[in-house]
Amino acid sequence: MRTRVGIVGAGPAGLLLAHLLAAEGIDVVVLERRSRAHCESRIRAGVLEQATADTLTAAGVGDRMRAEGHVHHGIELRFGGEGHRIAFDELVPGRAITVYGQQEVVKDLIAANLANGVDLRFEVEGITLGGIDGEPHLQWAGGRLDCDFIAGCDGFHGVSRASVPAGRLTAYEKTYPFAWLGVLAAVAPSAPELVYSASDRGFSLHSMRSDTVSRFYLQVPPETRPEDWSAAAIWDELKARHETVPGFTLATGPVMSVDVAAMRSFVAEPMRFGRLLLAGDAAHIVPPTGAKGLNLAVADVRVLARALGEYYRSGREDLLDAYSATCLERVWRAQHFSWWMTTLLHRFADADAYDRRLQRAHLDYVARSRAQATALAENYVGPPYEG
Ligand code: FAD
Ligand code: DHB
Repeated sequence: MRTRVGIVGAGPAGLLLAHLLAAEGIDVVVLERRSRAHCESRIRAGVLEQATADTLTAAGVGDRMRAEGHVHHGIELRFGGEGHRIAFDELVPGRAITVYGQQEVVKDLIAANLANGVDLRFEVEGITLGGIDGEPHLQWAGGRLDCDFIAGCDGFHGVSRASVPAGRLTAYEKTYPFAWLGVLAAVAPSAPELVYSASDRGFSLHSMRSDTVSRFYLQVPPETRPEDWSAAAIWDELKARHETVPGFTLATGPVMSVDVAAMRSFVAEPMRFGRLLLAGDAAHIVPPTGAKGLNLAVADVRVLARALGEYYRSGREDLLDAYSATCLERVWRAQHFSWWMTTLLHRFADADAYDRRLQRAHLDYVARSRAQATALAENYVGPPYEG
């Protein structure tokens, strides 16, 4: 079997790339290890940057996002017994975020690809990559796919990045001494916008999915397992970390799911090796505090789809040659922002009294200085795309 672009992984990166390439008449095949149901139910990110929402809309996959997602024009930073609104509408006029679950984006992209007749294959296990510096092909127990290019969109633990010969990529990595417990609950949000709360007990985040479903995160020790936390303990801790301003009561309800996410910063450079192009989490990850992971995946894919489109239209390779450098500029901006938000808001066990006062001084500065708040806002809603 032969195709032009073989795509490994049906997460947001692989699915959006397939959709954009198919729209230009470029043949693709997507190979995904897990089932469709698994991909559609995996709960992860929830914040779409302005440019991400615009990209999904321009690609014709934004109808449900616009109908069911919620546009927010600010977030709250809560610390020291007060809430401070970072007002996007004032600080970065015309730019906002859309709160819409990643698994809904994935559902929309799978439906659009299937409607367009894209060859999407689920439950393909044991994929290996070959010929990435010459004649690329993908192999698995039941088959072989020869292609012009392989797009490695298989996430941080995927096979694509691991197939690059040792020593050809440079990895930059940082791990954090905590994880996030993620909680989905059948309860109306207790606040109209996201609340990022830095308390003496640790960080917590109040987000939402709809008028009846809320999403929460708690900073927890890195070795935490979901079963370590009862529903009662979750609500006690969420209340203790959020009910720190006068008049705020956190509504509680049935817990629907609990998960644990590790916190890591990672970049592999360059994002291309021969005929293998890495996109999204396969190339880089960020701690979730800045809500950037999914948005970076979309930004990479936009650059990659343009480069491949140009290659097949005119034979020009300059955009493909520039792919890695073009993406890495935005990637490193998001790396810095995500690290910055993480260090600003979390409690570090090894911090001494000086470190804690410094962290508080920094939070005060963000709350009081328009310049600092603007820096946060412009990164949070996301920089516009280059070109
Ligand atoms: P993925 O979504 O990881 O998709 C990769 C796909 O490749 C998956 O479907 C996977 O099954 C498939 N795959 C993997 N290996 C193979 C293989 N060998 N063969 C075939 N297919 C393979 N970001 C936030 O902003 N906020 C959050 O709260 C947040 N929470 C997260 C929680 C978790 C547990 C994780 C892992 C990530 C979270 N992220 C979060 C990050 C965000 O979800 C990712 O940045 C985003 O999913 C990246 O999309 P992607 O398509 O690059 O990778
Ligand atoms: C969500 C996740 C994030 O990592 C974040 O910073 C904000 C919101 C969410 O899942 O809703």
